[in-house]
Amino acid sequence: MEYTQIGELTVSNLALGCMRIGNKSEEEVYQLILAALDAGINLFDHADIYYGGKSEKVFGQVLANHPELREKIVIQTKCGIVPGVCFDLSKEHILKSVDDSLKRLNVDCIDILLLHRMDPLMDINEVKEAFDELKAGNKVKYFGLSNALPSQFELLSSVLNVPLMVNQVEFSPAHTNLIDQGIFMNIKTPLATSTDGNLIDYAMMKKISIQAWSPIRESLAHDTFLDNQDYAKLNEVLDELSQKYQVSKGAIVVAWIKTHPAKITTVIGTTTPVRIAKMAAGMAVNLTRQEWYSIYTWDKKLP
Ligand SMILES: NC(=O)c1ccc[n+]([C@@H]2O[C@H](COP(=O)([O-])OP(=O)(O)OC[C@H]3O[C@@H](n4cnc5c(N)ncnc54)[C@H](OP(=O)(O)O)[C@@H]3O)[C@@H](O)[C@H]2O)c1
Repeated sequence: MEYTQIGELTVSNLALGCMRIGNKSEEEVYQLILAALDAGINLFDHADIYYGGKSEKVFGQVLANHPELREKIVIQTKCGIVPGVCFDLSKEHILKSVDDSLKRLNVDCIDILLLHRMDPLMDINEVKEAFDELKAGNKVKYFGLSNALPSQFELLSSVLNVPLMVNQVEFSPAHTNLIDQGIFMNIKTPLATSTDGNLIDYAMMKKISIQAWSPIRESLAHDTFLDNQDYAKLNEVLDELSQKYQVSKGAIVVAWIKTHPAKITTVIGTTTPVRIAKMAAGMAVNLTRQEWYSIYTWDKKLP
């Protein structure tokens, strides 16, 4: 496993996303956490809205009954999406959301808090005040954003007293917007359009940790692209590499994401313990440059 430093936290470059655990039993979630720790994963990603709070709650029940786990794990959660209504990054909402997450998770402190999506109506001074209170009250150690543009990092950073250290965004072989524009620059193709404000370059310059969500799923599709006929060409390439390296196709995707020099953290979302180890095997695979491009070009031709 590879690790990244976020402030004083040593954080694994593979994270377990907890978006889908809200309907699992406490014992199932306990086994999932143990499987992640066995694989070297110590970063667990939550949000206040996952399963309407049930994902944090069942995770918190496990922590209450196994307090020895707390010092072994880094807990990240998010706030700012109000399901079915809007985005809300008001001071009042941020503070309330964190208090609710702390209660559900049964912890005194959240290690990393991300603002889930940017709220065009946010007052940046209210965000500053909320973060100052959370930091002063030892309720949150470190802060970051999710699905945010470099300009939004700059805007918030112009008033915040704390650094923004993470940006969690969608990235996978089926969703490559983060790197397309840099390759197709100045060519008449939609791939040359920036949808992310050149986030990777910005994050590398500012030492912001990028976290890739939905690594084996296109967010608009319902299921994974692994073994999915709509992604037959991608599966052909992954099959070949999975045979060469004797790991699963999911592991090849993990290897593909970690190859980028931005040292992107992959946030996997499986709720099946045995799949965690299989995906984690990808952290030991070093793809050649040609192999990396063979995955990138499954649905496009290089200029
Ligand atoms: N910041 C954001 O806006 C945002 C948005 C979405 C997600 N996220 C975060 O990213 C995490 C990961 O997202 P995701 O759940 O979409 O990730 P994913 O790892 O791309 O997909 C996981 C899903 O694929 C299924 N799956 C099917 N075949 C699999 C295989 N061979 N190996 C592994 N899994 C397989 C899993 O089922 P089983 O559970 O049955 O194994 C699970 O339902 C979430 O938990 C959340 O923490 C963040």
